[in-house]
Order: sequence, then structure tokens, then C-alpha cells
Amino acid sequence: MNASTPLIELRGLEKSFGKQKVLAGVNLTIHRGETLVIIGASGGGKSVILKHCIGLLQPDGGEVLVDGTVISSHNFMDVQTIRRRMGMLFQSSALFDSMNAGENIKFAVREHNPEMTESQLDGMVVEKLNLIHLSPDMQTKMPSELSGGMKKRLGLARAIAMNPEILLYDEPTTGLDPVTGDVINDLILDMQKTLGVTSLVVTHDMVSAYKVANRIAMLHEGRIIFIGTPDEIRTTTNPHVKKFIGN
Ligand SMILES: Nc1ncnc2c1ncn2[C@@H]1O[C@H](COP(=O)(O)OP(=O)(O)OP(=O)(O)O)[C@@H](O)[C@H]1O
Ligand SMILES: [Mg+2]
Repeated sequence: MNASTPLIELRGLEKSFGKQKVLAGVNLTIHRGETLVIIGASGGGKSVILKHCIGLLQPDGGEVLVDGTVISSHNFMDVQTIRRRMGMLFQSSALFDSMNAGENIKFAVREHNPEMTESQLDGMVVEKLNLIHLSPDMQTKMPSELSGGMKKRLGLARAIAMNPEILLYDEPTTGLDPVTGDVINDLILDMQKTLGVTSLVVTHDMVSAYKVANRIAMLHEGRIIFIGTPDEIRTTTNPHVKKFIGN
């Protein structure tokens, strides 16, 4: 696809769970290289949007395009190929508790690259830890030995293990103190700069949104009701947005 094709595009995305309509026609375009942040109330459907982007959920209506290809239709068989281009930092970190940090980072890489030797995998782990500014010693730690912030960082090291073009972050700073949260914000900026990734971040942390976003979109009652730069959102007159961002 050519460079002007949006890397991710959501067209009229609709999703209900039982009688509850969570997404009521979400339209959103994410351009190559940008960091787009989706804000919105708890339970509003932010995580549901991310799950559609990586093909973990199928929409009831509308479509998801990645690099110009519709990935949301039932006859699209290549979800694995698309997913390989993405890394996701889950809201709960989703680390394997029975594996140490190094094994967590290696897991998917080993599955997809059976030809890689253990020493190549070890090298990959050190390289990824280095990108997240963690020391190689960290590999032997078990997830249960790590603080919340360190778990997020390890989750990020795992998300970048397959050299994704797209990084999806689900509430990367939620539950962290402001200083630790800011370390994560800096890493999100770092990933954009050093890896050139395109990022979609969902959060209700406005400090984080302002810091990492090129553009911010607000999800409200199942639709995107605002999209603009951090400066534009600060000065918007939209009452729902103003109420949410607190000015
Ligand atoms: N697999 C599912 N089955 C049934 N309901 C679901 C499912 N996934 C999400 N929901 C519902 O959809 C709504 C939106 O959930 P979602 O997790 O996307 O919210 P969110 O905006 O990410 O909230 P938070 O900020 O608390 O993480 C919630 O009411 C949730 O209960
Ligand atoms: Mg969520």
C-alpha cells in the first residue's frame, strides 16, 4: 500500500454485547508514524476498540482496515499475519506468571522463528530490554517479583519482541504513581522515535494523553465525538470533552 494509506482505519464500527451497544459507529483513522490516543470513560469501549484492531473481536457492523486490507470480514483468513505486525501492551500486562522475564519476551519469537538458536534469542532479549532501558540481569526475574511499573516495562519489551510496526497500548499508566507513569510515557515517545512505530494508546489519564499524543480522540456513548491535537482539545467548546478533561 502507498504511504498515504492510513495504517489503521475504523469505518462505522458497531459492537454490542447482548443488549448493550458498546460501539455505535466508530470512525477513526490512524496515520503512519503517529501516536493517537483514545480517551473516554471507564466501560465506554476503549479496550473493545483495541481488540477489534488486532482481530480478537469481530464487529457487528462496519469494518477494520489495516494497511488498506479489511481484516474484520469473516472470510479474511490472514489475521495471524496482520497480528504479527502489531504488538500490544495489555491493560493487565498479561505476562506468563510461570516464566521468567526473559522467557516471557522470547515466547512468541520462538514460536514464529523455529530456526532461531537460543543464543540468538538471548541476544534479542538483551536488545529489547536495552530499548526499554532495563538491565540484562532483569531476565531471570519472575513476574511476581516485579513492581507494577516493571511489569508494564516487561510487557512493553514483550510487545516489541517481534519488531512490530504498530503498537497498541491499553491503559499503559493506569494504576502507576505519577513518576512511574511518566517513565512509561517517555518509553512510548521513545518507541515512536527510535522504532518509528505507529501507536494507538487508550487511556483515561489526561497527563499521559497530553504528553504522548499527536492527536487525541474522545469516545463518548459509542462514537468518536472529538479528534484533534492536544492544543485543540484544550481549547474545545464541546461540553462532553470539557467535562472529561476537567477544564
Ligand atoms: N467479551 C465481552 N463480553 C461481554 N461484554 C463485554 C466484553 N468485552 C467488553 N464488554 C463490555 O463492553 C463495555 C466496554 O468495555 P471496555 O473494556 O472496552 O471498556 P473500557 O473503555 O476499556 O473501560 P476501562 O477504562 O475501565 O478499561 C463494558 O460494559 C464491558 O462490560
Ligand atoms: Mg479498558
